[in-house]
Amino acid sequence: MSTKTIAVLTSGGDAPGMNAAVRAVVRSGISFGMRVMGIRRGYNGLLNGDVFEMNLRSVSDIIHHGGTTLYTARSPEFNTPEGVQKAADNCRKMGINGVVVIGGDGSFRGARDLTGAGIPCIGVPGTIDNDIASSEYTIGFDTAMNTAVEMVDRLRDTTESHDRCSVVEVMGRRCGDLALQTGIAVGATTILVPEIPFDFHKDIVERMRFTQKTGKKHFIIVVAEGVGGVDKLAKDIEKETGIETRATVLGHVQRGGSPTLRDRVVASEMGYYASELLNNGKSNRVIVMRGGKIVDLDITEALEMKRVFDKHLYDIAHKISI
Ligand code: F6P
Repeated sequence: MSTKTIAVLTSGGDAPGMNAAVRAVVRSGISFGMRVMGIRRGYNGLLNGDVFEMNLRSVSDIIHHGGTTLYTARSPEFNTPEGVQKAADNCRKMGINGVVVIGGDGSFRGARDLTGAGIPCIGVPGTIDNDIASSEYTIGFDTAMNTAVEMVDRLRDTTESHDRCSVVEVMGRRCGDLALQTGIAVGATTILVPEIPFDFHKDIVERMRFTQKTGKKHFIIVVAEGVGGVDKLAKDIEKETGIETRATVLGHVQRGGSPTLRDRVVASEMGYYASELLNNGKSNRVIVMRGGKIVDLDITEALEMKRVFDKHLYDIAHKISI
């Protein structure tokens, strides 16, 4: 039986499916014969020793819950060389010889630094933003998209009833994926994303006027958080077109809720894989989805990759939402 002790933490913004990933890490880790510890509130828990032993039952009944039962945090102290050293020293004191870090790019930079300080780490991509360059998919994205679609569908009911225009902001930080997918699914007249510059008259006003001539009376404009400015945009649209316009920011509601099947399954597979890598003595790897398959990459190389926005899908959306 292996005497290895691994630990798992969730860091950065929570995402639906993180619990499924934690569950998979714990259950598979134990099945490989390892001891598994839970770290509360991200890297903060490593700095202040908020660590506890987990067993098979510690992760019962969590696969369907949103948020993260390990809690999460962004840790300014850990983001310093002294913080990383302290976290590594604490790991050694607690006998932790491997950590699974579930989070976004910022969390992976922490995992790379902690590995550099002598504690093997494996990253698992968990964020609703889908903004990790090395992975086609991040845990939480599917649930957040479905939540956003449900919310915009509701918004459409009232927008349609009043012959109005709704300008709706969805999350995604600097990434337009959530806006693009949601925009397509709700049939938005225009989708604004940070990756593609837009022209107010050509991309919004003229499109609204054109569709108005063909009989359209209400409009949904989906705006990515990275573009922002929805209040001003709504005022400008109303002024220019004469169509009554309202702005809505969906906000943090997109981060909550029971994870979809896809998030539960991807998280389970990624969590298992992370545990398996640590059991096999691997370190400084990140679990990613590439070509629809779950594989692992070097964290440092993964962090250097550049995201490619799906311009083809964006162009399709533009053509069919008219
Ligand atoms: O990274 C997830 C995310 O929800 C982003 O979409 C958003 O920009 C950010 O986190 C919000 O962060 P906070 O929860 O700190 O307000």
